Amino acid sequence: MSIQLRAQDLSKRYDDRVLFHIPSLTLGPSDAIYLKGHNGVGKTTLLKILAGLTTPSSGSINGDEISTFHRLFKRKLFRDVVYLHQSPYMFDASLVDNIRYALPVTSQKGLNSRTRAIHALRQVGLESLADEHCSVLSGGEKQRLAMARAWIVNPSILLMDEPSASLDIESTQGIVCLAKDLLDRGSSIVITSHQQNGLTNLCDTQWSIENQGLTVTPHLRIIDEEIKQIEPITHNILGN
Ligand SMILES: Nc1ncnc2c1ncn2[C@@H]1O[C@H](COP(=O)(O)OP(=O)(O)OP(=O)(O)O)[C@@H](O)[C@H]1O
Ligand SMILES: [Mg+2]
Repeated sequence: MSIQLRAQDLSKRYDDRVLFHIPSLTLGPSDAIYLKGHNGVGKTTLLKILAGLTTPSSGSINGDEISTFHRLFKRKLFRDVVYLHQSPYMFDASLVDNIRYALPVTSQKGLNSRTRAIHALRQVGLESLADEHCSVLSGGEKQRLAMARAWIVNPSILLMDEPSASLDIESTQGIVCLAKDLLDRGSSIVITSHQQNGLTNLCDTQWSIENQGLTVTPHLRIIDEEIKQIEPITHNILGN
């Protein structure tokens, strides 16, 4: 499913310090955004507001004023938005169960959910560790697991906060495949990164937070050929 978020008058301040004020912002459907800005300008804060994880100081999204009450108790607005943290949260369980727990409760049990979870793990090269406890994973492997977990729920909007910070080029490529697959199926993605790479090259629009505002410009990709070479993911009866 594709959704659009339309934010008005979005601002965040801590005491007297204004991080940003964004008069209007639209995200989706099928947007690929590279969110840039120096350390501390508020990129993570903006993503968390768009995911319903942080309350803005002012602003509405799709016509609703976003208060803490609205954020906590009227979650429908953010139901199809997934925020991918740079240090992802893991359940105290195996890799395969970490993926299964992301599925709706009604489809968590049973062979089909295991097959789907293994399929997702294969996309990020972690299939051979499927039944290991997630505590054995390195930082980069945890990021790959978190991406597979986000991919399997097929979110309308995926907000990726420095997803490639601890990944080598090969691992980044696995994540690029999953992000491209979501885009091909109508999801929107927003990526923050301090380096241009295969993921940011998927983006066609750039958001920059500077001078406490947001500038929107087309994103100039450096290596278009790389994107054309990405193998599409095979979808089958697994449902993803
Ligand atoms: N609870 C808080 N109280 C006061 N200031 C805060 C609080 N949470 C975040 N900040 C400040 O808000 C600013 C923006 O933080 P944020 O993490 O959004 O920046 P960022 O653009 O993601 O930076 P980076 O590139 O380093 O990830 C930072 O200066 C941070 O210290
Ligand atoms: Mg950040």
